[in-house]
Amino acid sequence: MKIWAHRGCSQRYPENTLLAFEKALEIKGLAGIEFDIQLTKDRHMVVLHDERVDRTTESIGYVRDYTLTELKKLHIYADVHPTQQIPTIEEVLDLIESAMRSGLKLNIELKNSVYPYEGMEDQIVDLIHARGLQEQVIYSSFSALSLQRIRELDPVTEIGILDTKVSDCLYKLAGGCGANALHPYWRGIDLQPERLRDYTVRAWLSGHLYPEKPTGTKLDLAALENRGITDAFLNEPEVYL
Ligand code: G3P
Ligand code: CA
Repeated sequence: MKIWAHRGCSQRYPENTLLAFEKALEIKGLAGIEFDIQLTKDRHMVVLHDERVDRTTESIGYVRDYTLTELKKLHIYADVHPTQQIPTIEEVLDLIESAMRSGLKLNIELKNSVYPYEGMEDQIVDLIHARGLQEQVIYSSFSALSLQRIRELDPVTEIGILDTKVSDCLYKLAGGCGANALHPYWRGIDLQPERLRDYTVRAWLSGHLYPEKPTGTKLDLAALENRGITDAFLNEPEVYL
């Protein structure tokens, strides 16, 4: 089972922050880091899960209504650690790029199924190519149309189609979105393992997020592997590696 840091180490540190990614870089044997991108009003790519800033900062409103300068004034609580800011994708890449060149993978989830940020695909593919990181990147989205556009822009890149049920991932893949991996919710494995044998199945686990306290419960990864899951996106990868 390959283990990924989901939004960085997001159980003990605030999700999708430089702090959460720094902690992920300390984990030996980690397959990769997953994060989410949104677009600001002035078209900067920022790393943030929600379309709004309400849950993770002191402010309210849609990311797309803030300029980058305005977003950078917001604070993300981090307890004893320095207060964090919403990072730009460039800041995160600066932090993790050398680890990527040593083999760490990066799953960039385009958060464009709720609000379809026009041109986001071109922007992210251009940036990853400009940095020469295309072999280390896997793009994913719940939007099959968005992935289709990524595939047009990069015929060889790795693409994972997101959905809750693995059967729906497979259905969207068959529809020609250009994906070559399935990214279902871990409780959405509704097909027999034989049907999944030829696929990379990267499952995401919702789990607990900072500042909720860790529960101490551990998943049976071997059981998940027997169901056909090859990779797991975990909020607390540090507990498994
Ligand atoms: O990419 C897998 C997973 O991150 C999708 O769900 O809501 O955590 O972005 P979410
Ligand atoms: Ca995600």
